[in-house]
Amino acid sequence: MTKNYQFPSGFWWGSAASATQTEGSHNGTKGKDIWDHWFETEPNRFFEGVGPYYTSDFYNRFKEDIKNMKATGHNSFRLSIAWARLIPAGTGEVNQEAVDFYNQVINELIANEIEPFVNLYHFDMPMTLQEKGGWENRDVIDAYVAYAQQAFALFGDRVKTWFTFNEPIVPVEAGYLYDMHYPNVVDARRAIQVAYHTMLAHAGAVKAYHQAYDGKIGIILNLTPSYPRSQHPADLKASRIANLFFNRSFLDPAVKGEYPAELIELLKEYGHLPTTLPEDRALLKENTVDLLGVNYYQPRRVKAKDHLPNPHSPFMPSWFFDRYEMPGRNMNPYRGWEIYEKGIYDIMIDLKENYGNIESFISENGMGVQDEQRFIKEGRIEDDYRIEFIKGHLKWLHKAISEGCNAKGYHLWTFMDNWSWMNAYKNRYGFFSVNLETKERTAKKSASWFAETAQKNGFSE
Ligand code: NOJ
Repeated sequence: MTKNYQFPSGFWWGSAASATQTEGSHNGTKGKDIWDHWFETEPNRFFEGVGPYYTSDFYNRFKEDIKNMKATGHNSFRLSIAWARLIPAGTGEVNQEAVDFYNQVINELIANEIEPFVNLYHFDMPMTLQEKGGWENRDVIDAYVAYAQQAFALFGDRVKTWFTFNEPIVPVEAGYLYDMHYPNVVDARRAIQVAYHTMLAHAGAVKAYHQAYDGKIGIILNLTPSYPRSQHPADLKASRIANLFFNRSFLDPAVKGEYPAELIELLKEYGHLPTTLPEDRALLKENTVDLLGVNYYQPRRVKAKDHLPNPHSPFMPSWFFDRYEMPGRNMNPYRGWEIYEKGIYDIMIDLKENYGNIESFISENGMGVQDEQRFIKEGRIEDDYRIEFIKGHLKWLHKAISEGCNAKGYHLWTFMDNWSWMNAYKNRYGFFSVNLETKERTAKKSASWFAETAQKNGFSE
């Protein structure tokens, strides 16, 4: 029997991208950020030695891309502003060339009836500020809020949906715990301070926005539901702690304005509370978000530790749990991440039951594929696996909505194949493929499927 998955009217169909991953850092008069610096100093850290200079060139080709978005059924699109492009030194003078560029992009989107969602920070700390300690330095919070205010003043007349940060936990984990991103620190104490300062910066920007503007402002979090190996109390505890560290450490302050008491207790017990000021509490409490972007890729499968951590080893969240490979889990054969579509539903139910059913949307979901060229037939990538992936997630999102969850849209990561940090072009995610030599864009099969789905506001199966 055919089932109809019809979404509520006004549902946001679209995709997301970020400045560093698409614009091309050598384009225009951009200041250096940590990615430019890191690539200059350690190019071998990047897959095939390809750095952020080598992108799809959105900077020069955005008109064509926006036309393609329109043809792909987009009614909304998320981009990020590169802080170091708008304010090359991180603080102070605004770069007129950047203002012109972002104005053109925003205006072009609006002219095509695509609502611009603008994110202020996508892993791209200006190098001048990183040299002063980046998020470890409390002064950087003021610099960020000043940057946010500039962006609101310049573009806030047309942009009505803002985000302060994309996946703020990633620079914490990758940059300060696992040696995966610059500045390649491995130190939980510093990581916790960075996480805390990021949330203060977030709250400062929310405050500034609410004082002067009438649109909505939120944050984009990569929520990774933790599933315990069993119902054994030790597994349940391990899973709860993973959830505290990797979801609730940002979700609770953003939506509820306070950190979970259990997380504070845990950090206190191990002597790892960050340095705070008395006024921080009220800042967080009074400046919660209007909406939440949820990036969902894969769950976290968790079990109790097989062995107690060596008490002399440095403190790490992994002291409290182990990951495990659940037998029979469904893996993406082309990239290696687990595919668990129901995760999207579980997140939405959690938001409904425990976070006041805050307005949210899927701000990223997507399937990375290596060597995707092998699926070309008659000049087009036949990515049926991606269509199935999107459908599978949309079905669970649909169920969540039918049960009263406040989910307003679905954005794919990403619009066209893009440069992905250390992985460069290893995994392709787009509706469009890009010939990196000629920069020619070609729609994949999923682009036409999505266009039809968006146009019908749903699909049947
Ligand atoms: C999340 C991030 O926001 C984005 O920058 C990244 O490329 C994708 N996930 C894919 O890993």
